[in-house]
Amino acid sequence: MENVEIRPARAEELPRELLLLADPSPALVESYIHRGHGLLAEHQGTTVGVAVLLDTRPHTMELVNLAVRESLQGRGIGQALLHESLAYARVHGARTVEVGTGNSSIGQLALYQKAGFRIVGVERDFFTRHYPEPIYENGILCRDMIRLSINWD
Ligand SMILES: CC(C)(COP(=O)(O)OP(=O)(O)OC[C@H]1O[C@@H](n2cnc3c(N)ncnc32)[C@H](O)[C@@H]1OP(=O)(O)O)[C@@H](O)C(=O)NCCC(=O)NCCS
Repeated sequence: MENVEIRPARAEELPRELLLLADPSPALVESYIHRGHGLLAEHQGTTVGVAVLLDTRPHTMELVNLAVRESLQGRGIGQALLHESLAYARVHGARTVEVGTGNSSIGQLALYQKAGFRIVGVERDFFTRHYPEPIYENGILCRDMIRLSINWD
C-alpha cells in the first residue's frame, strides 16, 4: 500500500483497539506500553497499524505487539511495520529481536519467517493455561506459543 508512513510514537498515541487485535488482554497491554517503544503506521492522517518493542535483556528486544487495522490487512502494512521495527531495534542497539505467536497463527508464522525469524522454541500449553476461553484460528486450537527470533551477531 502506498503512502503509509511509519514513525516512533508515545504510548498515548497508540490506539488501544489496534493493540487489542494482537493481544486480547487489556491488562497485559497496559503493563507494557508505557515501558515499550511504540511505532505507528499512518495513512492520510489515520493510524492504520501499530508495533511495540520491549527491552528485555542486554541487546535484546521483544516485539510484543504488531497489528494492522482489519479492513487494511493483507496489503503489506504488517510487513512494512515489521521491517521498520527491526530497523528501529537495530539502531537502538538490539542484536536480537524475539517474538511469540500461536501455533494456529499460520499467517503470522509466515510473516515472521519471511522477514528472517527462525523458530527457537515452543512454550507448550501457554495459551490454554493463560487464556480463559479456547482460541481457534484456521480451524486449529491455539495451545502452544511458538517462539521465534532473528539476530545479527
Ligand atoms: C499479523 C498482521 C499484523 C499482518 O499484517 P498485514 O498487513 O495483514 O500483513 P501483510 O499484508 O504485510 O503481509 C503478510 C505476509 O504474510 C503472508 N501470509 C499471510 N498468511 C499466509 C499464509 N497462510 N501462508 C503463507 N503466507 C501468508 C502474506 O503472504 C504476506 O507476505 P507476502 O507479501 O510475502 O505474500 C495482521 O494480520 C494483524 O493485525 N493481525 C491481527 C493481530 C495479530 O495477530 N498480530 C500478531 C500477533 S503475533
